[in-house]
Amino acid sequence: MEKYYLTTAIDYVNGAPHIGHAYEKILTDIIARHYSQRCDDVYFLTGTDEHGIKIQKTAAERGITPKELCDENSRKFIDAWKALDIDYNRFIRTTDDDHVNTVQKIFKKMVEKGDIYKNSYQGLYCAGCESFLSEKDLTEDGLCPHHLKKPELVSEENYFFRLTKYKDAIIKHIKENPDFIVPSFRANEVLNQLEDIQDISVSRSKSNVQWGIDVLDDKEQSIYVWIDALSNYITAIGYDTENPSEKFKKLWPADVQVIGKDILKFHSIYWPAILLSLDLPLPKHIFAHGWITIDESKMSKSIGNVIAPVDVLKNFNMENADAFRFYMAASAPCGKDGNYSDDDFKEKVNAHLANSMGNLLNRTLSMLVKYFDGEIKEDFKVSASNELVEGSMSLLKTAVGKINIVKNNFDNFEIAEAAQEIIDLTDITNKYVTDNAPWTLAKENKMTECGQVLTTVLDVMCIISSLIYPFCPNIAKDMANQLSFDHKTKLDNLTFDNIKTGKIIEKNDIHPVFLRLDSEFADKSAKK
Ligand code: ME8
Ligand code: MG
Repeated sequence: MEKYYLTTAIDYVNGAPHIGHAYEKILTDIIARHYSQRCDDVYFLTGTDEHGIKIQKTAAERGITPKELCDENSRKFIDAWKALDIDYNRFIRTTDDDHVNTVQKIFKKMVEKGDIYKNSYQGLYCAGCESFLSEKDLTEDGLCPHHLKKPELVSEENYFFRLTKYKDAIIKHIKENPDFIVPSFRANEVLNQLEDIQDISVSRSKSNVQWGIDVLDDKEQSIYVWIDALSNYITAIGYDTENPSEKFKKLWPADVQVIGKDILKFHSIYWPAILLSLDLPLPKHIFAHGWITIDESKMSKSIGNVIAPVDVLKNFNMENADAFRFYMAASAPCGKDGNYSDDDFKEKVNAHLANSMGNLLNRTLSMLVKYFDGEIKEDFKVSASNELVEGSMSLLKTAVGKINIVKNNFDNFEIAEAAQEIIDLTDITNKYVTDNAPWTLAKENKMTECGQVLTTVLDVMCIISSLIYPFCPNIAKDMANQLSFDHKTKLDNLTFDNIKTGKIIEKNDIHPVFLRLDSEFADKSAKK
């Protein structure tokens, strides 16, 4: 694998980040970190979407300029992603100069190609969607189905994009590439939408929308927010209509573009059409994740149940975001909706990270110190001719086999499924310890057998620390340190024999990698 380029949706800056936004960035960061264990050149892009009527209106209500509002709110996203250890390569803001300039050139190139034309138009515009809706999109009461607000009747002279010109090519692409839209059960939905698509308005009159990128040769019009927003995926890496950068040539097409299911239409119809118009290849996968609810209800300002990711960290007094990342990533099977609740969060991470995984490492290392002064001896190692404890070889085979299973999960964007595989491996390893009771072997003075059980577990723990790394980078590094194992080991270099022989740990260096979440903190946050 030569390179891996992945992107998230860029968030609107008309509010602060909540755990639904966080879910997407965590998933993408986990995918990025996983591929960084398989290839050297991973590029991860995220950012904020800053233009449009909604920002203009919110800023006006607050008596500040749109740019001031964007600066203030964009900062909140940057800070939140820092707290969650989201390790992106670029944070693009659609108000960045390089982006603005390239979007103007993109629009111009599409005009020159004959794909954009001017027309007068009357339509129903939903500011929440930043999109025109057709009558049949609306609810029975004439409201936008997503925002439950009445769209505005807009009539103006606009530029139009010949979306219809690309309809057949996109249908063909979706049909010929069943893994273009992930999960594949969403492809039919898109094919249905494609059936009756029309050309779309791609500019707004400056008299109505001032906060947008100007059309280069027509200062009366600003570029429609979705052309502006979608283009970020190529402007951020140095696309240019005449002279694209080396970086762009290397990275494009994207390997995966991660988005929420509500904006799939824009990413699987509008975006491919724009790319085709620019004679660029389409991304390999569009991965539409599901929706995060809180205590099984929709997050909304009016219900007052919006949770900021940093508040979860604070409420549970967590040093880092590992447990939250793990929980969110495991919250829903590929593409399905997930739910957050304080109680469930506490229960799951206590069970999986503290009791099962953390405890396994802790007690195994403690026994290694107690019985062998922290030393792994050569004759503890399992081989075909040296399987002293039945089941040791089979456990190691299962562990190495998991690596391919998890890689395959990631290639299919089954992130929760991958997390489950790792938990399963931890459970199997715990069972191996219980079955072979190394403390009994020690009592019976079967010291080499006892050493073999501990060594086998620690060899598996190296694999577990590598597999859990994308989810829990801090815990994984701590595990690897206590194992004297290089946490940067690539997945393909993991074997049956990962732990080195000789003294690997001192008594005083053994500590729990994850402390159970205190139930008091959870109760406090519930009362809040
Ligand atoms: O749509 N659960 O921005 P946005 C899961 N600017 N995901 C959620 C969510 C929830 N409760 N709420 C939002 C936009 N999201 C555009 C994107 S991309 C060129 C432009 C996801 O701030 C949502 O699905 O409304 C989207 O992928 C992302 O957060 C940003 O949503
Ligand atoms: Mg939205």
